[in-house]
Amino acid sequence: MYPIRPFDGVRQSLTCTQGWLYAPSDDEAFKDLSWNDSAWTPVCLPHTNKELPHQDFRPAEYQFVSWYRKHLTVPQDWKGKRILLWFDGVMSVAQVYVNGVRVCEHLGGYTSFSVDLTPHLDWQGANVVAVRVDSTRRPDVPPEGGVVDYMLFGGLYRRVYLECTDPIYLEDAFFYTTALEEQTARVEGRITVGNMTEEDRQLTAVVDFEWPGGESVIAEVTLSVAAGALGDGLVRIPVRRPKLWDPEHPHLYKVTVTLFDVARGPVDDVSFRFGVRVIEMGNDCVRINGQPLKLRGLNRHQMFPYVGNAAPARLQRRDAEILRRDLGLQYVRTSHYPQDPAFLDACDELGLLVLTELPGWQHIGDDAWQAIACSHLEELIVRDRNRASVFMWGVRINESPDHHDFYTRTNAIAHALDPTRPTCGVRNRQGGEILEDVVTFNDFSMHALPAIRTPQLITEFVGHMFPAKTTDPESRLVEHALSYARVVDEVYGREDLIGSSGWCAFDYNTHPVFGAGSEVCYHGVMDMFRQPKWAAAFYQSQRSVSEGVVLTVATYFTHGSPEQAELLGTLRPDFDYDSDWHEGQMPLYVFSNCDEVELRVNDGEWIRQRPCRASFPHLPHPPFRFYIGAYQTIGHVEARGYCGDEQMAFARQSTPQGLFRLTLAIDDAKLVADGSDMTRVIVEGVDENGVLCPYANRVVEFSVEGPATLVGENPVALEGGRIAVYLRSQQTVGQVCVRVRGQGVLGAESTIRTGEALDRFA
Ligand code: GAL
Repeated sequence: MYPIRPFDGVRQSLTCTQGWLYAPSDDEAFKDLSWNDSAWTPVCLPHTNKELPHQDFRPAEYQFVSWYRKHLTVPQDWKGKRILLWFDGVMSVAQVYVNGVRVCEHLGGYTSFSVDLTPHLDWQGANVVAVRVDSTRRPDVPPEGGVVDYMLFGGLYRRVYLECTDPIYLEDAFFYTTALEEQTARVEGRITVGNMTEEDRQLTAVVDFEWPGGESVIAEVTLSVAAGALGDGLVRIPVRRPKLWDPEHPHLYKVTVTLFDVARGPVDDVSFRFGVRVIEMGNDCVRINGQPLKLRGLNRHQMFPYVGNAAPARLQRRDAEILRRDLGLQYVRTSHYPQDPAFLDACDELGLLVLTELPGWQHIGDDAWQAIACSHLEELIVRDRNRASVFMWGVRINESPDHHDFYTRTNAIAHALDPTRPTCGVRNRQGGEILEDVVTFNDFSMHALPAIRTPQLITEFVGHMFPAKTTDPESRLVEHALSYARVVDEVYGREDLIGSSGWCAFDYNTHPVFGAGSEVCYHGVMDMFRQPKWAAAFYQSQRSVSEGVVLTVATYFTHGSPEQAELLGTLRPDFDYDSDWHEGQMPLYVFSNCDEVELRVNDGEWIRQRPCRASFPHLPHPPFRFYIGAYQTIGHVEARGYCGDEQMAFARQSTPQGLFRLTLAIDDAKLVADGSDMTRVIVEGVDENGVLCPYANRVVEFSVEGPATLVGENPVALEGGRIAVYLRSQQTVGQVCVRVRGQGVLGAESTIRTGEALDRFA
């Protein structure tokens, strides 16, 4: 269970992200209470051990040991209680010391863990928590041991919470839907309580299953728990006229469990959100509450430019919004590890289904390594099994060879901890032993190969087979988009596949043995700043009109691209020119979910067309293909999108007329003044009419005034006409002005505010 945090109930959960001290070096004495840390750097969490350029750096720059120290102020009235520190993620190995005493070592950077501070606190004096963070390559800890096509980065990179409970406490609550009957949903919850007192106790757990602002179902269970032990019990909740959770209607109930000690009244409580839903696997789709859905998704790495993995909740949530709302996906694979709770919270809220898996990449280590992998799987499932969005557990190391004993064990762990969700395991070979419930296959054939066994999901495609940078020629970016369109089209037409997730959502940093020579894999449908390539427009155009009309003309409308010459000269053998094509013409693609699109060039005649069903027979919304004279591509092109007779959208692309000025846009008008909130600042180089200059690479320079810090390279060159940096709040409230300038162009500025934090801090 990952409860709502921070939390102010009988239980107290305080955000513990401010007031940490950081040293990028290693010395055993750093653990000592008396260590003089006055020269250390004050930091807020999430924190990366090293801010980096967005490309062109060496992995060794972040692969070192660092330390964090926190002088804890524990309220005096917490004396006699049970006090925990929760770490959402520390990369890669954390050794936690309290007042000089080592209390925990956690191996692996992708799962949450807690440290029990209770026996170590000094109620009369000062208390210091010191964390030694080993961010070197640790071949003994998954995913390391072989090579990994992504970077792990380092630091105390997720949030930390300080939690105070009674010695009689709620250890866990696992809720699931067992059946949907007419008018009623059957929900069950297994509640586990702990008793750290020296007496056996008779306890009652009362569940308030509440539709926010509406009806509640109350249920309870009595538990006898021996001294020093854990005990559990089952509670059954009939939910009448349930509001069901599905991607279109992600209804979430609020569940509050309160624990009563018969002698003392309420002693502990937790709250979490819960979606009532049943998901079954068909052969050609999944069924959510009986409704068929072919899954359309992408893989997500959690990496961001400059800060590695250390992105605050706002950026995590924004990714889920991009995937669900902007691109209209119903599904994400959190390749190749458990991701930030803030990302998953947003998936629950937005209706984005999640396939999550244990950390790993192609390599299986020795017995000790496998034991750690199994503990990661346990931590992952226990943390996320109440989430409506999570629909499958990935229990194989991504693309690893068969291993009968190891995978028998991981499947058994998942089935024991969660009998309600199927297991899967991502493979890249057709043969082999399949111990999982659902086959998940990385298909890089650029088609959709026949299913090995149903149910099957294609978990990756395109990726390294056809990467594209935002600086690539137009025709490559169009072909990149079409590569996804062809595979997704095949999957829609197939009765032996439940869906697909393309590789991948966003470009990401990777090691020199992968990537394109710049420590970047350009496999995203968006770049690493989350700026769309046309492949993103393809995905977006598959959403329904009710989720937003899409009309993107995939051209910069310029001459001079060598590909045009190629098109005019020799026909490319892989290009499916159809009978409408005439010599001297070039194809122009429009990605849209409209029924028809009208297009005209330089105020000429409007040509109205239906989408290209002949080439994409199965897609919800095939691309539109117009043919225009290759030498017409100067001036402007306009498009109108129609649903029936109604014009729904208009788009225009003009030939850029030369870099003239910079524009600056900040994603959010307000940041929380907690020292770690961040927002993106996008700069574009445009011509006098505001048209993007798609190959501008001018160097631009930022300046910031007010209580925020610029995160990113400064100065930095535009890439494909654009670049982004981030703003991080400081801990004071005020107005922040960001300015950008570049040689020979007009600059720009924008202003935001930083405001009070809503969270309670320790
Ligand atoms: C897959 C792998 C991914 C990524 C991708 C690139 O084999 O699972 O992590 O490396 O290739 O296309």
